[in-house]
Amino acid sequence: MKVLVIGSGGREHAIVDALARSPKVSGIYCAPGNAGTGDQAVNVLLKDTDVEGLKAFALENSVDLTVVGPEAALAAGIVDAFRAAGLRIFGHTKAATAIESSKEFAKKLMDKYGVPTAAYRSFSDYEEALEYVSGRTFPAVLKYDGLAAGKGVVIAENEMQAREALASMLLDHSFGQGRVVVEDYLEGPEFSFMCFVDGERVYPMPLAQDHKRAFDGDRGPNTGGMGAYTGLPFISDEDKEFAFREIMCRTASAMASEGFPLSGVLYGGLMKTADGVKVIEFNARFGDPETEVVLPLLESDITDVFCAVADNRPGPELKWSDAVSIGVVLASKGYPGAYSKGFEITLPQLPEGMRLYQMGTSTKDGRLLTAGGRVLMPVCKGADLHEARTRVYEIVEQVGCENLFYRSDIAHQAL
Ligand code: AMP
Ligand code: GLY
Repeated sequence: MKVLVIGSGGREHAIVDALARSPKVSGIYCAPGNAGTGDQAVNVLLKDTDVEGLKAFALENSVDLTVVGPEAALAAGIVDAFRAAGLRIFGHTKAATAIESSKEFAKKLMDKYGVPTAAYRSFSDYEEALEYVSGRTFPAVLKYDGLAAGKGVVIAENEMQAREALASMLLDHSFGQGRVVVEDYLEGPEFSFMCFVDGERVYPMPLAQDHKRAFDGDRGPNTGGMGAYTGLPFISDEDKEFAFREIMCRTASAMASEGFPLSGVLYGGLMKTADGVKVIEFNARFGDPETEVVLPLLESDITDVFCAVADNRPGPELKWSDAVSIGVVLASKGYPGAYSKGFEITLPQLPEGMRLYQMGTSTKDGRLLTAGGRVLMPVCKGADLHEARTRVYEIVEQVGCENLFYRSDIAHQAL
């Protein structure tokens, strides 16, 4: 089987790595990929949203399966276009991607089908929104309705902050012309639950936890994620079962009932509140950096589930390792703000059982260079989190590069 992976981050490197373990895979392409995917796949210089270019490439090269990483490609309709051309592709249609690309769509769906989430109101008019927030309690959470690269969420502590955020979103249109969802502030540990979903068939993956803030102690600005691990001691089997039935399966079945059956990964950004597990957000794709710690635990052949979902037929029962896994992101100094690129990296020798996923790298004259905000993510599996964490930080410290920083407290909520 020849497989094409779309995207260029650590998530895509982890998908390429999982595919490389399959005896059924004879060749892997990654578009556009990074230096790391280039070691295991053939990188193809096409943008992830170049739907026509990617479709032509898949047809010309007899690609048997395409796997989509980023939401931008899904929202651009890549799945619809590939299917219309008779190509097999793993990912949601443009219509189903609304579960991520529109917060209001997701909130309405959850309301209608009784999926637990924070109470909300949505607005397009600034004055109306202002009137509502001035009469409510704080903190309140304000979310821009469309895709905002993780930057469209403001937790307002008081009316003044809410007013500023509303003005930015509804008067200045900082993110575009979308509406604003205002929702209740929830408290509790957050975790990520990813499932492969094909209509009403839902295949759960191990739970993971991301670390969104840039610095130790969960301080600093929000990022794409600075590290992740599996094996969350604060989520019980009952919590997971509840989240599986009442959130993930219920949402899959709701999307099918609405005429937008899912056919890819449903990512639940969940929170364990005093009042039970609730949805903070849904994504229509693999999480990054969660995928980098979750996929190394998959013992089944990943092509079996990708193909079953893409073909809309029953798939295999997935086998997952009992081990836990932890990964630490090394990011360019300055990230998530402005940062420089092009610093040389020297990689350490990896011991058995470890992976080093590349997130934002390129090569020039045989040298490995930084090429993005998040650059590298060493990942270690182990029988217990303490041991895996010690080993992963040993590797982190051996990475040679003068312009990287990392958090030293990944998995602190578990330890
Ligand atoms: P989102 O992009 O929707 O995941 O929001 C980004 C971050 O904002 C989440 O990871 C949470 O930490 C926080 N957040 C979003 N919604 C809420 C909420 N209703 N209550 C508390 N925190 C929230
Ligand atoms: N790790 C958060 C995300 O993928 O959106």
